[in-house]
Amino acid sequence: MSFLTPNKDSKAADEPAVEVTSGARLLPRITIQAFCEHSQTAELVETAVHDRRMSKVALTTHNGGLEGAVESYKSNPTPNLIIVETTLPTDQIPAALDRLAEVCDASTRLIVLGHVNDVLLYRELIRSGVSEYLVLPTSALSIVNAIADLFAAEGAAPIGRTIAFVSAKGGAGSSTVAHNVAWAVSQHLRQDTLILDLDLPFGTVGLNFNQDPPHGIADAVGASAKVDPTMLDRLMTKAANHMNLLTAPAMLDKTYDFAERDFEQVTELAQKTMPVVVMDIPHTWNAWVRHALATVDEVVIVAEPDLANLRNAKNLADTIKALRPTESEPIVVVNKIGVPKRPEIAPAEFAASIECKLLGQIPFDAATFGIAANNGQMIAEVAANNRVNETFRAIARQVTGRAIPEVTQKATALKLPTFLKRKKAS
Ligand SMILES: Nc1ncnc2c1ncn2[C@@H]1O[C@H](COP(=O)(O)OP(=O)(O)OP(=O)(O)O)[C@@H](O)[C@H]1O
Ligand SMILES: [Mg+2]
Repeated sequence: MSFLTPNKDSKAADEPAVEVTSGARLLPRITIQAFCEHSQTAELVETAVHDRRMSKVALTTHNGGLEGAVESYKSNPTPNLIIVETTLPTDQIPAALDRLAEVCDASTRLIVLGHVNDVLLYRELIRSGVSEYLVLPTSALSIVNAIADLFAAEGAAPIGRTIAFVSAKGGAGSSTVAHNVAWAVSQHLRQDTLILDLDLPFGTVGLNFNQDPPHGIADAVGASAKVDPTMLDRLMTKAANHMNLLTAPAMLDKTYDFAERDFEQVTELAQKTMPVVVMDIPHTWNAWVRHALATVDEVVIVAEPDLANLRNAKNLADTIKALRPTESEPIVVVNKIGVPKRPEIAPAEFAASIECKLLGQIPFDAATFGIAANNGQMIAEVAANNRVNETFRAIARQVTGRAIPEVTQKATALKLPTFLKRKKAS
């Protein structure tokens, strides 16, 4: 391991500050936050972004080291990777990391930059789930290599979480909810997010984000075997910081008849480069829809509180549970609650009848949703103080597996960060 070699003897000082190998695998669009104690360390970490492999990575550096990180994540969402520098004595490091673990999300990875070259400490940290421990002074190249080993190694697990939104009945609002939840993920959790508009003839991703790009999902699916990360990058539209789209053509010049696995390749590729992939699925039932719902990480059923929605939601929920008995169960969002004079099923009763967890309740609000739709904007943009934004943010946190930023919530068994969970297991 690199840290075992005393740095003064190592080639660190002679190593180029940046990697120039053209064949190196690019890192996915992860967010990295580094908490350093010394300005030289911050400068070193900042140098790492000049490495070609880091071109899509969003990296920020902060002061305060380990304790600074603990303070920050009490109230802020955690990124994909945290790098912390610590000058603590060896015996205090594990306890300080436990405090950090309590305020981090389960999926967050951690690299520690330390000043102690101690093999026992290294082993203890790795056993407790820390991804890498590098002894300072080190080189920018060693830091990039450590990050690449985690996120870009051959056979590394795809980073992207796939979340499918489907309506129980056409028009129930699954696209609207999907887009606003994706917005919350990208702006509130600051995770790079890609929406796949799988409703090729009628999809509204372009309209809802006020984008009319010449390329989109149809080109990606049409290219099938030839589609690669560079091509996917070109076909994507950036709607805002962290918010990317593959829009539908929404043209009827041809029919769209897809086979069961036609979207598989694009989805898998998207997962390798994007931390969050939101799939906007049309209200149809055919082989590729069933396959998508069987294979994604999370399924969200959006339903209006009436009888036809209830019947369809029950059928969907039962079918999805049977298709993926060992995966997470579908969850339900009841939308358009309180349409004037409409008799409605109470949301809690609705969820209980279909035996699904009720993830959110969204009121019917023709004015706000209508203005947003007509402007091609998200609800948070046209009505920042509307309470429905908190619902979208709560759904976003839930479907991305991100804990609510409260220490008590984060300490629950399910939410334990990887680097603490492993420790408990050992
Ligand atoms: N809570 C709400 N209050 C008022 N209008 C809403 C609400 N949610 C969605 N809408 C409106 O309902 C319409 C249909 O929404 P949307 O296109 O999201 O449905 P959908 O479930 O995706 O339909 P399909 O399943 O057929 O794709 C849109 O005009 C949208 O603005
Ligand atoms: Mg839709």
